[in-house]
Amino acid sequence: RPPLTILGLESSCDDTAAAVVHLPVSGPPAILSSIVADQTDLHAAFGGVVPEIAARAHAEKLDLCVEQALTQANMTLGAIDAIAVTAGPGLIGGVVSGVMCAKGLSAATGKPLYGVNHLAGHALTPRLTDGVEYPYLMLLVSGGHCQFLLVKDADDFTRLGGTIDDAPGEAFDKVARLIGLGQPGGPAIESAALNGDNRRFAFPRPLLDRAGCDMSFSGLKTAVLRTRDQLVKENGGLTVQDQCDLAAGFQAAVVDVLAAKTRNAFASYPDAAQRSLCVAGGVAANTAIRSALETVASDQKASFVAPPLALCTDNAAMIAYAAAEQSTLRSEDDLKLSARPRWPL
Ligand code: KG4
Ligand code: ZN
Repeated sequence: RPPLTILGLESSCDDTAAAVVHLPVSGPPAILSSIVADQTDLHAAFGGVVPEIAARAHAEKLDLCVEQALTQANMTLGAIDAIAVTAGPGLIGGVVSGVMCAKGLSAATGKPLYGVNHLAGHALTPRLTDGVEYPYLMLLVSGGHCQFLLVKDADDFTRLGGTIDDAPGEAFDKVARLIGLGQPGGPAIESAALNGDNRRFAFPRPLLDRAGCDMSFSGLKTAVLRTRDQLVKENGGLTVQDQCDLAAGFQAAVVDVLAAKTRNAFASYPDAAQRSLCVAGGVAANTAIRSALETVASDQKASFVAPPLALCTDNAAMIAYAAAEQSTLRSEDDLKLSARPRWPL
């Protein structure tokens, strides 16, 4: 394979991103630039991502992100070998904006176009950052996703299980709102939990004893709601200690579920010279979750790989890299490439 420099675009949720990744003939890949423009401010007043607002912002910001990514990489569009874009799954308006932009760039330059599955981008990130060898286990935990994957090649993923309702990040955000903590809920709950007693409230661990890797978080959220209502009824409100104890109890339940299901996921890991447990997604920032997963990995004689947070959350470097790996396994896309709101791996 010749050296490859790929421009990647990502716009499937609420981050607009562009990046340039270079793969030398031998040696590790290099991220020459990675630009992420988030839309947190635009959606803050609505308590969640508003698809129409997201799509409009992506359409406005993509060009600028591409320009910045090229400038930061010290590159011209002409020096790029291929254009990669998230073609799904995600919010359709945003995905369409990205795909149209990428098609325009590909048509204007004559460079090949690759539509990439967003989840494949996350799942291949440990290879970009740490050169992890196939096969490896991946736990993808974010505001929108929660699944275990066995990653066997750049186009070969087995989904071992995942949430049957909410994603953990969504649960962190909702619970934070319920108990009067700020947004995003993950970091707010994590820091409140440091001062809390995780045994004061006995919250459920849904599906804990069931085999396999399916998870459920919505009952846990409801249990927190009931406890909060009870406390408010008894005392007229929540004290700071109540908030901390609720946060600690909730987080401990999430940790137990993720750790138990990770142990189950290892049952599907074939014999391999090296075993690795990798994580991606914003929830992987949580120290309690990380250290529980690290313990499971070391019990399983596997290494634990958590890419730097900026590459665990949505970014375009992972899309460019996934296209680079897949380019040796599949043919390029053409201008008929379409955006897919649903696209299981
Ligand atoms: O991957 P991500 O940035 O974006 C999407 O899901 O699109 O993940 C964001 C999610 C939010 O729900 C946020 O509350 C959660 O990750 N999160 C955390 C922590 N930091 C962010 N959850 C638990 N603990 C944290 N420290
Ligand atoms: Zn994502």
